[in-house]
Amino acid sequence: MGKAQKDSKADTHFGEKTVPLADKQGLVDDVFHSVARRYDLMNDLMSGGLHRAWKDALVTAVNPPRSEKEFALLDLAGGTGDVAFRVMEAGGKGVRVTVCDINSDMLAVGRERALERGHDLAVTFEQGNAEELPYADRSFDCVTIAFGIRNVPRIERALEQAYRVLRIGGRFLCLEFSFVDVPGLDKLYELYSFQVIPRVGEAVTGDREAYQYLVESIRKFPKPPAFAKMIEAAGFRRASFTTMTAGVVALHSGWKL
Ligand SMILES: C[S@@+](CC[C@H](N)C(=O)[O-])C[C@H]1O[C@@H](n2cnc3c(N)ncnc32)[C@H](O)[C@@H]1O
Repeated sequence: MGKAQKDSKADTHFGEKTVPLADKQGLVDDVFHSVARRYDLMNDLMSGGLHRAWKDALVTAVNPPRSEKEFALLDLAGGTGDVAFRVMEAGGKGVRVTVCDINSDMLAVGRERALERGHDLAVTFEQGNAEELPYADRSFDCVTIAFGIRNVPRIERALEQAYRVLRIGGRFLCLEFSFVDVPGLDKLYELYSFQVIPRVGEAVTGDREAYQYLVESIRKFPKPPAFAKMIEAAGFRRASFTTMTAGVVALHSGWKL
């Protein structure tokens, strides 16, 4: 049986549900079409504003040049452009960001925000699938993905594609929810995730199921050491990670050397 045929028969997780691998992307797309207009507000509400600090840590690791030196960043699953705008604000005149996301509604919100912030010339929003990137080999200095990788059905493919489009010496950085590893706090976090977030999601976006999926999908994502191995398996070297906020989030890094 060919790989494509095997894939079409394989199952995967969509939150706590088991679904055919071929169906996951469509279900994920429904989630983000539904919440796009309220996505940024929900991020602030759900994380108590902490997502800003996590993204700032990502931007510090990206370390865009403050000079006029050219620097091309690909922000995968970049949605409404949050990471892109932060990188633009941290870097100099030579920074260009391509936001690639599969969801047209998330991108539409991103384009509006870019116009409002005056970043519409340096940040471009393009529709694309992280599993089959429409970019040439070695065309970016850095590739980031924030809270996106766990939504991608075939994570290995997305990692291989990120590797392919990075130049030699470029860095891959991935911010993703992780596992709270502080006794006591883990139970509190679980309670907050499963009892509070879907209710707030319902009140703000009218879609409880979407936020139920988002919290469930965190539990199904590999623990940081396992994900670091996946990053290495895609070809990256010196894979490492740091956790933040008692393990709520992990920042992963790998280099194309
Ligand atoms: C939780 S949002 C993260 C958005 C943004 N990176 C942020 O941190 O605010 C996840 C994003 O992943 C995108 N996504 C899901 N599957 C994708 C795929 N296969 N390729 C590209 N983007 C994808 C969704 O459309 C959504 O915009």
